[in-house]
Amino acid sequence: MLLDNHVCIVVGSGSPRGIGYAAARMLASHGAKVVASDIQMTDDLAEAIDASAGGRKAVTGIACDITIMAHCEALVAQALDRFGRVDCLINSAGIVESIPFSAIDDRAFDRMMGVNLKGTFNLCKAVLPVMKTQGRGSIINMSSLAAQRGGGLVGGAHYAASKGGVLSLTKSIAREYGAFGVRANAICPAMIETEMLDGLSGERQKAIIDQIPLRRLGTADEVAGACLFLASDLGGFVTGATIDVNGGNHIH
Ligand SMILES: NC(=O)c1ccc[n+]([C@@H]2O[C@H](COP(=O)([O-])OP(=O)(O)OC[C@H]3O[C@@H](n4cnc5c(N)ncnc54)[C@H](O)[C@@H]3O)[C@@H](O)[C@H]2O)c1
Repeated sequence: MLLDNHVCIVVGSGSPRGIGYAAARMLASHGAKVVASDIQMTDDLAEAIDASAGGRKAVTGIACDITIMAHCEALVAQALDRFGRVDCLINSAGIVESIPFSAIDDRAFDRMMGVNLKGTFNLCKAVLPVMKTQGRGSIINMSSLAAQRGGGLVGGAHYAASKGGVLSLTKSIAREYGAFGVRANAICPAMIETEMLDGLSGERQKAIIDQIPLRRLGTADEVAGACLFLASDLGGFVTGATIDVNGGNHIH
């Protein structure tokens, strides 16, 4: 299988309709040992992911709040302790808030940056020494179309800015760690049918879909497919890239 002998940490995999959950399931079903993590991760959730991936007992659940560096370090340490290596980190944890610029106060801005950007930094910082020592690793960070087009679909300016930071962080890691065999890539999804879209009215959704060349929403599995490519040796010469999974919503 594509990911035989791979150990993958998938953070943000605690929401059954979410991208991280789908990625954890897809990686496990392609042979990886998966550490599924989320602020709301439970043994039941990890078992459900495992069952949906064929029930190979390949999924271990570990709770982690990515805003806390000590949690991120403990997550990586536990994965290492259990499996002896970490081949891939997928960071799909994130929050969104759809408010106009004038309504973004200090607290809202810091919270958004704390989870989406600092949380991504914390996870990367925790896993990079391990990958550098191994001489191998793949980091996949979830950014957003909002970072490329300046928000405007789902999420305010603080969300778009936090995801822009994720893009820059990912490219910098790719440049700095390429010589050690570590790849880092970002995925920019848009309009993927998960809980994140629940706040959008049907009317607003339809207006957005009318502008998408493929004329539909994306699925979490379609983003997970891009993760599978980047996690495996199929994407072995891909680093510093931004992969769009947006139905043509933004064509460069
Ligand atoms: N759904 C979309 O259309 C879309 C579009 C662009 C980008 N994204 C990005 O993709 C990623 C996944 O989004 P999704 O749609 O699956 O959302 P989701 O809400 O279903 O999943 C996000 C997960 O992150 C977890 N999380 C939140 N804060 C956390 C923290 N502090 N520590 C650990 N876990 C935390 C949540 O518990 C949740 O399980 C996010 O980064 C999001 O910004 C999604």
